[in-house]
Amino acid sequence: MLWNFGCIFLLPSLIARLEGGGKLMSALGIMLDPTRKSYEIQSFEDNLRRRVVGQDRAIRQLARAYQVFKAGIAAPGRPLANLLLLGPTGSGKTRLVEAAAEVLLGSERAILKIDCAEFQHSHEISKLIGSPPGYLGHRETHPLITQEVLDQYHSESLKLSLVLFDEIEKASDSLWQLLLGILDKATLTLGDNQRVDFTRCMIFMTSNLGSQEMAKLVEGGLGFASTMQGSDPELDQKIYRTASEAARRKFTPEFMNRIDRVIVFRSLQREHLEQILDIELRRVQERVTLAAEDRQFIFRCTAAARDFLLEEGIDVKFGARHLKRAIERHLVFALSNLIATEQIRLGDVVTVDFDRSASRLVFFRDEKAALVPAMRLSAEKAMSAASHATPAALLAP
Ligand SMILES: Nc1ncnc2c1ncn2[C@@H]1O[C@H](COP(=O)(O)OP(=O)(O)OP(=O)(O)O)[C@@H](O)[C@H]1O
Ligand SMILES: [Mg+2]
Repeated sequence: MLWNFGCIFLLPSLIARLEGGGKLMSALGIMLDPTRKSYEIQSFEDNLRRRVVGQDRAIRQLARAYQVFKAGIAAPGRPLANLLLLGPTGSGKTRLVEAAAEVLLGSERAILKIDCAEFQHSHEISKLIGSPPGYLGHRETHPLITQEVLDQYHSESLKLSLVLFDEIEKASDSLWQLLLGILDKATLTLGDNQRVDFTRCMIFMTSNLGSQEMAKLVEGGLGFASTMQGSDPELDQKIYRTASEAARRKFTPEFMNRIDRVIVFRSLQREHLEQILDIELRRVQERVTLAAEDRQFIFRCTAAARDFLLEEGIDVKFGARHLKRAIERHLVFALSNLIATEQIRLGDVVTVDFDRSASRLVFFRDEKAALVPAMRLSAEKAMSAASHATPAALLAP
């Protein structure tokens, strides 16, 4: 104790000398910098940021949890992290988990996802954990959660599982009991008494609780406040408090005490949706590239086409969900028609524009730019390189 006090008072005067390499020296040794990020964590964050827009705080918090795991000093006997994700619908909660799976485990589907709304009735729990031996149908019920299922995405280099409990406010009491056990002791006992170990899992739980109140704080209703540019620490604080108070009102203290971090997602603004549009268009292009070999082509959207999709996709209630729907309805559906009627062929370059008078997207095949099939291979290579470039570079008219 005395020693600690001594340190507090002596430290400033002890940090006296600057060594040749710019390192601060003191009688206690070389001063270290715990804010410096490793290359791996920095690139994890950068990769998430390329996929999830406008949620930097959430990304940083997830990266911190991952860093503790990578350093090997996560608390023993518990999951690696219990994270509660709050925020409006379509703001990127599920997308963040998918993006983490994509970056860390190679596929956005590498998640064990439990939709709590599907287990609202207690008897449905047997779908999750199987029924006890002797019960009718015991042999036919294959539990959704088993050790095998949980570990299926482990690799030699990374033994990590991502588990997502979606819409937890809809969970039944018995699902809550299971969840509490997992969050606290990292174990789940199945119907046949086998145990599932969750110590190598990051547990994500999502909920829309408090999003109505949060929306009221942001000028302009649910999202898209044009006046709110960049970050506003005071507003951030208020939004965080509103969300966590709503969670505290709804969830029991025993649940909240098991949460390591409450991560609050912000409503998306127009500038974010513009970036999400680029990401989503790139994903459509990837779908085209992965389609049957004889149907690959490249499409480009003009600025007018992009503006149209954005206007169609802005909806104050559904965040980016509505934008995705607009892309499917106006672009993907039309492209699929053009493919089916063979108006688009292998190696074509298609320009997508907006016809103001008809108020719809229009499509043009560029005769000169058409790629002959022999060039397809190099086009594919260019495509995959472009998909790593900035979205604007790929989609510029
Ligand atoms: N911040 C974001 N960055 C990038 N894409 C996003 C973002 N938010 C939403 N999207 C896009 O919208 C889709 C729907 O978002 P997501 O599923 O993450 O919403 P959510 O916050 O989980 O909503 P809900 O509470 O309704 O489950 C995503 O698949 C993604 O394509
Ligand atoms: Mg979701």
